[in-house]
This record gives sequence, structure tokens and C-alpha cells, in this order.
Amino acid sequence: MTETALLSLKKLHTYFLAGKNEGRAVEGVSFDIGSSGSVGLVGESGCGKSVTALSIMRLISSPGRIISGEILFERGGKQVDLLSLSEKEMTKVRGGEISMIFQEPFTALNPVFRVEAQVGEAARLHLGLEGKALQALVMKALYDAGIKEAERVAGSYPHELSGGLRQRVMIAMALISGPKLLIADEPTTALDVTVQAQILDLLAEIRVKRKLSVIMISHDLAIIHRICDSVNIMYSGRIVESSGKEALFKSPLHPYTAGLLKSIPSLSRIEKRLPAIPGNVPDLFDPPAGCRFHPRCPKAMDICKKTEPGESVVEGRMVKCWLYK
Ligand SMILES: Nc1ncnc2c1ncn2[C@@H]1O[C@H](COP(=O)(O)OP(=O)(O)OP(=O)(O)O)[C@@H](O)[C@H]1O
Ligand code: SF4
Ligand SMILES: [Mg+2]
Repeated sequence: MTETALLSLKKLHTYFLAGKNEGRAVEGVSFDIGSSGSVGLVGESGCGKSVTALSIMRLISSPGRIISGEILFERGGKQVDLLSLSEKEMTKVRGGEISMIFQEPFTALNPVFRVEAQVGEAARLHLGLEGKALQALVMKALYDAGIKEAERVAGSYPHELSGGLRQRVMIAMALISGPKLLIADEPTTALDVTVQAQILDLLAEIRVKRKLSVIMISHDLAIIHRICDSVNIMYSGRIVESSGKEALFKSPLHPYTAGLLKSIPSLSRIEKRLPAIPGNVPDLFDPPAGCRFHPRCPKAMDICKKTEPGESVVEGRMVKCWLYK
């Protein structure tokens, strides 16, 4: 763990068990996030981004299990392993010190309670506020999340709001008790492009204003480019490249990263969306031998099919690929 790290994942393994088989959804994932840092977790569908996030929150349920690793988090000046905390302690961390916002706010908002009650719940639980003080904080949280008609929204049920407003309510809910770390799991995927841009601007602004650390999860490198300082590229449960943002976008090392970058129209200034990387992500229960990307890699060599590449460090950046051995 670096001196300034707020959260440090060390060799996290989270598997899904099906009879005698195991699907290694997260395999040996390590990364740090510093205080006020912003780290991206990127990769195609099924590569283990959400399972990594849910592991940090300790929200993995059967048949999933965190097999090994450490999730070190700074609490009161000390580094504690979240995996060793009691469930009671963990409920203080969840929502109080680390918050998460999800792709589809409908799944996280309760349809039968008004916004006010739901946003207030975290502040009641973690800050012990009640009555007028709680109400005032809810209004401020909604306002800080860019909701102009905070009173109307507070009195509404989730289904009465637009997708963009619901996502702003989620942000208010996640931030009301002043967490140090926000995990945003595809927070704008369900929104149309204009609203998506507004929500990303809001997150970027809040991040700076509150000196918040953010883990941004997305399959879209354009979103990561907007919000993050450093990027982890995930493929089939592993981080295959880890780098500062500028270097990664300028000269990707891993062929998978290069493939992801080529399919972003907004960065390459090409109007038509380019085809995604040909082929499919591997079956977790039956991954290919060697480098898991080899069946799709335009640069695959014989060794790639047999032996998995270890980590190489190239100009301070981490990459797992035989091209750099
Ligand atoms: N409850 C579960 N039971 C079995 N397998 C699961 C479960 N949840 C996730 N997985 C598997 O773990 C792998 C990683 O899933 P994860 O949700 O982390 O992907 P992701 O990178 O977040 O993808 P997406 O971009 O689609 O959200 C997938 O292969 C998925 O099928
Ligand atoms: S190790 Fe081989 S197959 Fe894997 S990304 Fe590198 S070149 Fe491609
Ligand atoms: Mg996901």
C-alpha cells in the first residue's frame, strides 16, 4: 500500500462456484486508489468490473465467494482489511465511508418510498440525524446533486422522475453522509447522451469540490478519459494493463487496450462507430490456456497460447503481455 492510498486491493480473488466448477470472476486483482484520486476500471461485459466493486463493498452473495486477498482501507488513520471486519462494522463502512452508485437507479431505489425518506436514510443511519436537521441535509444533498426543484423531487416517488433525476437522487443518496470513496458502476449507461454528459460533469465537479476518491467503472473509455487520472484495464477477471490516463490514451501497451481504444468514435474523431474487438470474452468456467486474450489478439505468438504472461513494468506502467517480456 502506498503511503497515500485510501484503498488498496491486494490479489483479490472472487469466484462463483457451480458444483465442482468454479468461475474465476476476479483473479488476483490489485490496485490502489489515493486520497482524492480517481481510478477507472474498464473492460467489456463480463470481465469482472462489478464483481470487483461488490467485493470491496462485501456484497458478494452465494454462489459467489471472496476466496482470498486483502482490501485495505484507511479508517481513523489506520489501514484495516475490510475482509476481516464484522458485518456490523461493515455496515458503518457501507454508505458511511464507501458509497456505491449503480447503472440502473431503479434497482437501487425503493418504489414505495418517497425520495426524501430514501435519501435521508443514510444520514439517519450514519450521522444519527433526525427531524429538521435531517430534512435540511436531504435538501442540501439534492441541491448539491444539481437538482434545482429539490422540494418537488424530495416529495416524489422514483417512478415520477426522469432517468437523469433518478440518477441525481442516487448521487445525493450516496454522498449525503460524506463518504471518502465513491464507487460508480456504469452510472450513466442507462441514460441518453445529453443527460449522460450532465451527470459526468456533475461527478467531475463533486469529485474536486469534496476531494472525493472515485472508482469509475465503465466499458467506455471515453467516460474514463473524462473522469479518471489512472486506468486499470480488465480482461477475463484480471487487470492486464494499469497506467496513468495520458500515457494509456497516447500509447496503449496491451493489444486489448489498443482494441478498446480503436472502438471509441469520440476520441478518434471518427463519426461512425468502429467495430468492437472481434470475438467474444472467454467463458469464465472454461477460459483458454495461456494469455486469455490470445484467441482474439492480432499479435498472438506461440507462447501466448501456452503460458500466461506475468507482469512487466514499462516506463512505470504495468502490463501483462508477452510482447514486453
Ligand atoms: N451471481 C452470479 N452467479 C454466477 N456468475 C456470476 C454472478 N455474478 C457475476 N457472475 C459472473 O462473473 C463474471 C463477471 O461479472 P461482472 O458482473 O463483474 O461483469 P462486468 O465486468 O461488470 O460486466 P458488465 O459490463 O456487463 O456489467 C461474469 O462472467 C458473470 O457471469
Ligand atoms: S500475451 Fe500474446 S496474446 Fe496476449 S495480448 Fe500479448 S501478444 Fe496478445
Ligand atoms: Mg457490471
